[in-house]
Amino acid sequence: MSFLNGQNMTGGYGKGPDILHDCTVAVDKGEIAVIVGPNGAGKSTAMKAVFGMLNVHSGVVTLDGEDITKLSPQARVQKGMGFVPQTSNIFTSMTVEENLEMGAFIRTDDFSDTMAQVYDLFPILKDKRHQHAGELSGGQRQQVAVGRALMTQPKVLMLDEPTAGVSPIVMDELFDRIIEVSRTGIPILMVEQNARQALEIADKGYVLVQGANAYTGTGKELLADPEVRKSFLGG
Ligand SMILES: Nc1ncnc2c1ncn2[C@@H]1O[C@H](COP(=O)(O)OP(=O)(O)OP(=O)(O)O)[C@@H](O)[C@H]1O
Ligand SMILES: [Mg+2]
Repeated sequence: MSFLNGQNMTGGYGKGPDILHDCTVAVDKGEIAVIVGPNGAGKSTAMKAVFGMLNVHSGVVTLDGEDITKLSPQARVQKGMGFVPQTSNIFTSMTVEENLEMGAFIRTDDFSDTMAQVYDLFPILKDKRHQHAGELSGGQRQQVAVGRALMTQPKVLMLDEPTAGVSPIVMDELFDRIIEVSRTGIPILMVEQNARQALEIADKGYVLVQGANAYTGTGKELLADPEVRKSFLGG
């Protein structure tokens, strides 16, 4: 069993139709796992299901061997999950530093060391720590969002499109930082629109189509699969 496991998840929003159909995503220690697929495939929905924001009426979510299927998102954070959603992932009217402090909301201990680690990882945030997050560039905002999630010292990090809307150079930089985080021992489960680049750094990849697993393999395997290339990677 993987460290974080969303296994055979079926469910949708409220009383609406099922969006996920027997969908499985997982990540192990030391790994980066990447979810790709077309717009509307259910990638964000799968992330929300793993984080406890969805009615999953069948399937199981486990973290480090423990069944957490019934836990609230807040309780999952307490258990060690960090989640950066696709949208509204920072407080724009607060400063960078206040965003990081908000990230540490569950902590009662001194979190100044963690903040220093976040500033080491993203030095630009230290320079801009007293600026409103809303004044930052897209790539810098994403750094705030990831930094905020790191403030709880998560055991696993989930990122929904961390490179959305940034230039290729900034994307490469963000991927380098994400690899750096994974090397500190935090497994990463992320959704990416930049499928090819993301699969290049992925230990494990999932292609989702219409809420179901279409292809699963190592990043290398998926990049080499002619069907995956033709349908999802532009040939
Ligand atoms: N809050 C919601 N309430 C009801 N339906 C929703 C909600 N959010 C998403 N959906 C529906 O769920 C389906 C999957 O959406 P989802 O956001 O998971 O796709 P995605 O793969 O993340 O797409 P994108 O690449 O555009 O981010 C879509 O049909 C969408 O309309
Ligand atoms: Mg999405």
